[in-house]
Amino acid sequence: MKQAKITVAGAGNVGATAAFIAADKGLGDVVLLDIVEGLSEGKALDMAQAKGVYASSGRVVGTRDWEAAAGSDVVILTSGLARRPGMSRDDLLAKNAQIIKSVTEQVVRTSPEAMIIVVSNPLDVMTYVAAKVSGFEKRRVMGMAGVLDAARFACFIAEELGVFVGDVSGVLMGGHGDDMVPLPRYTTVSGVPLTELMTADRIEALVERTRKGGIEIVNLLGTSAYYAPAAGAVKMAEAMLKDTRQVMSCCVYCDGVYGIKGEFVGVPAMLGVDGVEKVVELKLTAQEQAMFDASAAHVRELTEKVDAMM
Ligand code: LAC
Repeated sequence: MKQAKITVAGAGNVGATAAFIAADKGLGDVVLLDIVEGLSEGKALDMAQAKGVYASSGRVVGTRDWEAAAGSDVVILTSGLARRPGMSRDDLLAKNAQIIKSVTEQVVRTSPEAMIIVVSNPLDVMTYVAAKVSGFEKRRVMGMAGVLDAARFACFIAEELGVFVGDVSGVLMGGHGDDMVPLPRYTTVSGVPLTELMTADRIEALVERTRKGGIEIVNLLGTSAYYAPAAGAVKMAEAMLKDTRQVMSCCVYCDGVYGIKGEFVGVPAMLGVDGVEKVVELKLTAQEQAMFDASAAHVRELTEKVDAMM
């Protein structure tokens, strides 16, 4: 059987880490692409040599040439600028929209059958840009943010309760911004709702830390997070390549769910061989729905801005 092919556009922190995780998991042949001379080549060579230590199947290639990406099954887009201290994700809008547009054109040219996973910020809007420019069926274009945000929520919960993080199922939805909507009612630890394990005050504190999880790292590092974002993108790729039909929160096209009419925003979605297999509709309280509406309205506002630029 043919190896799956995964292309990662952008060999910066997120892209290189995603390529490394995908290669380490033996998900398939990995192509790491960047426009900076030597960057993807050097990093990929290092990764290929790591396979000499912990052997796994699949090759890793670094290149500046999009031809090497031809026929990819999944393309992960990490190209663009990352946040610096004092910046919001929205500040990256104009520059990253241009970058995502030109990278998406290369995906269309070289891998017309691929699934696209967008990681660049502002996430929900960049996913919209990739969908619009590619013209791909909307189930094949999605953004990675909910997996990251839910993982942050789960990590904080596990630390506080002293439990195994794998037993925590963090659930959240909405856009990838400070107005994301963590859902403690649906978040469980070994099947027990979080609301039975923690006081409302403590839950609120962890929700707040999750909302600000990105900037907490930017302020420490001087640049954006990358280990967890990269892991999130690879998890989505793996679900599609292996057709696991796992449900995870991701930015997908919503039309007629959660009161949304034709918009890319974060919701729980099932990923499989056909991409987004379906959106899972959780019953929301009026308050949760209102928070989701506000988050979706913010994404819509930015989407209209980017539309006017393109
Ligand atoms: C974060 C960036 C990747 O949340 O948006 O860390």
